[in-house]
Amino acid sequence: MTSAHPFLSLAGRLGLCLAALMTTHPGHGAPPGASGDPDRSTVGRTDPRQGYERSGFRTRSLRVATEPGQRLDLAALAADPPLGLPTLEDPPRAAEIDLGRQLFYDRRLSANETLSCGMCHVPEQAFSQNELATPVGIEGRFVRRNAPSLYNVAYRRSLFHDGRESSLAEQVFSPLTAANEMGNPDRQAVLDRIAALPGYTGSFGALFPEGLTERTLGRVLAAYQQALLAADSPFDRWFYGGETGAMTAAARDGFFVFAASGCSSCHTFTNTHAHFTDDAFHRTGVEVASRKREARPQARIQIAPGVSVPLAVSIAPPDRHDFGREEVTGDPSDRYRYRTPSLRNVALTGPYMHDGSQRTLTDVIEFYSEGVREDPDRDPRLTPLNLDPVQTEALHAFLESLTGAGVDALARDARSVPIGERTGEERTP
Ligand code: HEC
Ligand code: HEC
Repeated sequence: MTSAHPFLSLAGRLGLCLAALMTTHPGHGAPPGASGDPDRSTVGRTDPRQGYERSGFRTRSLRVATEPGQRLDLAALAADPPLGLPTLEDPPRAAEIDLGRQLFYDRRLSANETLSCGMCHVPEQAFSQNELATPVGIEGRFVRRNAPSLYNVAYRRSLFHDGRESSLAEQVFSPLTAANEMGNPDRQAVLDRIAALPGYTGSFGALFPEGLTERTLGRVLAAYQQALLAADSPFDRWFYGGETGAMTAAARDGFFVFAASGCSSCHTFTNTHAHFTDDAFHRTGVEVASRKREARPQARIQIAPGVSVPLAVSIAPPDRHDFGREEVTGDPSDRYRYRTPSLRNVALTGPYMHDGSQRTLTDVIEFYSEGVREDPDRDPRLTPLNLDPVQTEALHAFLESLTGAGVDALARDARSVPIGERTGEERTP
């Protein structure tokens, strides 16, 4: 190990004297996005769903379709990851990435040729979905968990919120064959489907002696996802790059709140790189908190002036059974444990938690500050923090400073690929 990073040793002393380290600073807005002007960023610009009733309402969503695509050298990115990320052991080859990317946006991979991977992992929505707590699968079917962002997924040692997979190349068959996601009956049906589409058999044949197989299909889809690297954020430039001015004063204070509050015991970082996850499973109590909230008297919605009815519409089945890690290990002590998510780019990946039950970062911070008390069996490291408004704002600014520089370029790259879809009389271009 190299000598301790100066900021790390500072962070180590924080637990003792947090208040003294909080510099005073005037009110501030969000730190500027790493990708230049945040107002022009296409990633994470979704509709806030607040204020529809006002006549002057303007959506925050951008019309991404009008933004041109632009190819990025993803193989070069994967070979030399951005600041704050370690090198990849086996970086993917350019030709594999290209084929994987084409398949990722091909809607014909689902049983009714409508749903691609990229529709639940939307490039402009941080390769997740900002508008839905849980995605809608094939034919409108219910999917019980939030779609995780795929940024930096190459580094995850366990995949899915419950860690039931560990290999990206194997993982792909889960959405492809889930009856409520892409709806293919089995793996062979997926291979037959792809083989029947023009071009793919030749592309696989050119890359692999065995052509299109389960293994090679998994490999190319994994290759594209391994290249979705997003770091070099204001935090990275400050912490690893030594650029003093890269983070706002508030975000720097927020880092100290983060370290002193014990967040980094699960959302870990080292003195050479940061994933902000230990890839382990913990019970935060959010499952219990959201069940309690659901059990409260129903909200009423106004359907016409003066007429309100109880809100009874939900596409979720009455009991959506989610026991978390216990479903994988069978061990009751793993009940409601979920994998620690990376906090990289977290400002763009909402809504949050395995069930999407926390809509904004403010909600998440409030949960850690107050809400964790709902579950007596939660991880003992989580005690209500009772953060004051200045600490709350600082923590928020820190989380915002984790947005990587390359997110817009990855979204533009995604748009450079034509969407694979059925052609014929049912669709005219
Ligand atoms: C219907 C929406 C939907 C579609 C389509 C979909 N996914 Fe997902 N994806 C999800 C959800 C939801 C999860 C989390 C499931 C869980 O944890 O149980 C997930 C998880 C993942 C993960 C794990 C990420 C992590 O951090 O652990 C990867 C990788 C992934 N999907 C890739 C793909 C690929 C590749 C495809 C296309 C072959 C695809 N997904 C299609 C919704 C979808
Ligand atoms: C005991 C380990 C642990 C500690 C300590 C912890 N977290 Fe978490 N964090 C988790 C786990 C596990 C989840 C995912 C829970 C789920 O999916 O239901 C999570 C989720 C989150 C999320 C949502 C991310 C997403 O993509 O959904 C944010 C933001 C977050 N934590 C920030 C913090 C902050 C800030 C602190 C300190 C106040 C903190 N965490 C402390 C384990 C921890």
